[in-house]
Amino acid sequence: MAMSRGRNLSSLLRDGLEYESSGQKEKAAQCYDESILILRDEMKRSDLIQQEVLKRQIRSLESAIQKMNLPGKGKVVEEGPKDEASAILQELGLSVSQGEGPALNEVVGMDDLKKELFTKIIYPLKFPDLAREFNINPGGGLLLYGPPGNGKTFIVRALAREVSMNFIYVNPSSLFSQWFGNFEKNISSLFRAAKMLSPSILFFDELDSLFPSRDQSTSDASRRGVSQFLNEMGGFREDPSKPVLILGATNVPWQLDPAVTRPGRFDRLIYIPPPDSRSRAEIVRQYMSRVSRKGEIDFEKIGEMTQGYSAADMEYLCKYSSQKAFMKSVEGKGDEMVTMDTFIESLEVVKPSVNRNVIERYRRFEEQRKE
Ligand SMILES: Nc1ncnc2c1ncn2[C@@H]1O[C@H](COP(=O)(O)OP(=O)(O)OP(=O)(O)O)[C@@H](O)[C@H]1O
Ligand SMILES: [Mg+2]
Repeated sequence: MAMSRGRNLSSLLRDGLEYESSGQKEKAAQCYDESILILRDEMKRSDLIQQEVLKRQIRSLESAIQKMNLPGKGKVVEEGPKDEASAILQELGLSVSQGEGPALNEVVGMDDLKKELFTKIIYPLKFPDLAREFNINPGGGLLLYGPPGNGKTFIVRALAREVSMNFIYVNPSSLFSQWFGNFEKNISSLFRAAKMLSPSILFFDELDSLFPSRDQSTSDASRRGVSQFLNEMGGFREDPSKPVLILGATNVPWQLDPAVTRPGRFDRLIYIPPPDSRSRAEIVRQYMSRVSRKGEIDFEKIGEMTQGYSAADMEYLCKYSSQKAFMKSVEGKGDEMVTMDTFIESLEVVKPSVNRNVIERYRRFEEQRKE
């Protein structure tokens, strides 16, 4: 059985099984890996029901690979460190999750970004030994930025579910008061737990609340916490055997201390823009697929009519329209349905949250970074 590209799925799976039953785990895992790539590709062309079937197939292959316990192949974390890490996190008011969040196909648009995240970040982290053979370093820091309500948090949660890696979600603004007085110590415990759970994803949402701009008065303790944070991040690069991906999200990247985006820290930045007309139409289509009382709706037209609406605005527009039709039904004004007219009426009330000045601000930030 020669390992060659372009084999079809059934022959890959058959070979994988044969290798597995004859104890050739590395080769079996390679066949399963290739099968997962084919299945993922197929998912893009499938409808929702078929996607669920494919997803289940992918999960079972991933779990077969995990059970082989090969070095660097999404190995199962031994109970000891995982228990200890969970205990540390619990004390910090946090927890570790795996395989939770929205499905990746619920995240509308961002196709290039999804591909980039997998090639550059997720696969190197999931298969660190293989990545190193190609001189690709797993782990590191990546910052997503962009106007509110366009899927920064959403896509990270979907990513965490997709890769089934240990995922730690941190929202610094909700931790500040709880960590008061122990900030430095807690930061270092947090990073220690993430390392124990490697390969893992540590996500700092609303990162700006951890790194407030320097003109805001910050306490000494929080300043020390921040430098502790930066040191810890640097430390990860020095220990490539325990890769951790550190993700951050913010909608005010210009408020971050420049030290945060220096090499070795959050040195990769990705802009998450508001949805374009096609994606806006798709968000409405997706939302309305869950509403059965609807008439003719021209999704493309709604997409075109909603310049400047964020993804969250689009969702609110759908919710508002559905509630409007629902209330009319309740009030006995006939068999109401959500129609194109309902949407047009709702647009009088639901207004866009992204304006040209906001977009301009992000564009300037991007340009300044390139200088
Ligand atoms: N690309 C998208 N496709 C489908 N729904 C989306 C998308 N982006 C956002 N949404 C919807 O909008 C909601 C808000 O998005 P999210 O919380 O990810 O925004 P954010 O960019 O993190 O904003 P903030 O900067 O305020 O934290 C999501 O929970 C989701 O329901
Ligand atoms: Mg967010």
